[in-house]
Amino acid sequence: MKLWQKNVVPTAEIERFTVGRDRELDLYLAESDVLGSMAHITMLQSIGLLTASELQVLLAELRRILADIRAGEFSIEEGVEDIHSEVELLLTRRLGDVGKKIHSGRSRNDQVLVDLKLWTRRQLREVVELVKALFDALQVQSEQYKDVLMPGYTHLQVAMPSSFGLWFGAYAESLADDMLFLQAAYRLVNRNPLGSAAGYGSSFPLDRQMTTDLLGFDSMDYNVVYAQMGRGKMERNVAFALASVAGTIAKLAFDACLFNSQNFGFLKLPDECTTGSSIMPHKKNPDVFELTRAKCNKLQALPQQVTLIMNNLPSGYFRDLQIIKEVFLPAFDELKDCLRMTTYIIARIRVNEHILDDPRYDLMFSVEEVNRLASNGMPFRDAYRKVGLDIEAGQFTPQKQVHHTHAGSIGNLCTAEIASQMHQVLEGFPFERVDEAERKLAEG
Ligand code: ARG
Repeated sequence: MKLWQKNVVPTAEIERFTVGRDRELDLYLAESDVLGSMAHITMLQSIGLLTASELQVLLAELRRILADIRAGEFSIEEGVEDIHSEVELLLTRRLGDVGKKIHSGRSRNDQVLVDLKLWTRRQLREVVELVKALFDALQVQSEQYKDVLMPGYTHLQVAMPSSFGLWFGAYAESLADDMLFLQAAYRLVNRNPLGSAAGYGSSFPLDRQMTTDLLGFDSMDYNVVYAQMGRGKMERNVAFALASVAGTIAKLAFDACLFNSQNFGFLKLPDECTTGSSIMPHKKNPDVFELTRAKCNKLQALPQQVTLIMNNLPSGYFRDLQIIKEVFLPAFDELKDCLRMTTYIIARIRVNEHILDDPRYDLMFSVEEVNRLASNGMPFRDAYRKVGLDIEAGQFTPQKQVHHTHAGSIGNLCTAEIASQMHQVLEGFPFERVDEAERKLAEG
């Protein structure tokens, strides 16, 4: 039985195709759907559409459903279209007619919007926490190895001295920038679409500020048409933030694979973090980084996937939007897994403290020598030429100490400054207020 069923029953084929993967994917949204309903009916009571006792009965049953969802004892039944229908069906089956009252003043269109926002808000928070954990691990390694030099490359040709402090620290700083995107995404997400109903509001005098406060949103998506236009736009913008993080991780993973190869030998993964070969008994492969690289490259396609699904839709709801859930919802688990694994390995990775004993890297000190001569008064271009000719003549002997002092260089990593940038962004997330609102709503 459909919420919208009257006299005509859709054929099994139409039902199969239109429900699609909703019975499976809407389970991601189940908790959020119940929270959204709790806020909605609390508001309905305040405007006289439910009595106080009806509200209490409904809230108590929604709490039971929430507990079942949290205990993993919840599913969307065969023949029921989606999470929104399942919850209303359970309430009606268990409580009778009062269950049929909860849908006044809303539509599944704003219901799924609010579900997606509540769910995404929670997921973004988890991503933020995992990004911070990786950031911390990178900063620890950066400080630990700040005095260990390694070759820096341009064109993948040995170029200039770099250091493990710089290498680890670079990825930490990259994550601090990615955090800004996550925060922008979070702010867009944290606005209440509930009350936009099918996309054009309602003739009931809905108290949208009340549901905004109950659900811990910063504010509402005011214009009801715009609220509905947020479906797809929200996912796309969040996807850009996830893609920014994924881009950082994919590059880190590629560096790590390269530097772990015998031909570089800069990094060493602990044996228990590598995998073997079925034919070559000596192999210790960096599969974790390879899989991370592939998954994170794939995640960078997410904004495009979302865009292409909703690109040419005019304003107003369309069923096309349902398909976004298929790519959007599972992406979070994938990114979170990559973040956890990267942190796990980064914390265990060892560096080769003696790379520069190998003479193949000697020429990376050429610029140090040019600069030394220039500091002693020789014009830079003359010093450059002299060192170049010495190298050609086989008369260059590297001085392997470096003296880089400016901000962000080998000798001055600015770890604390980068940490403080990260800290400032983190302070801007209203996690505690949101937690408190959700807890109050769920527990009453
Ligand atoms: N499963 C639908 C979706 O994700 C829920 C909204 C259905 N609304 C509708 N007008 N058919 O979009």
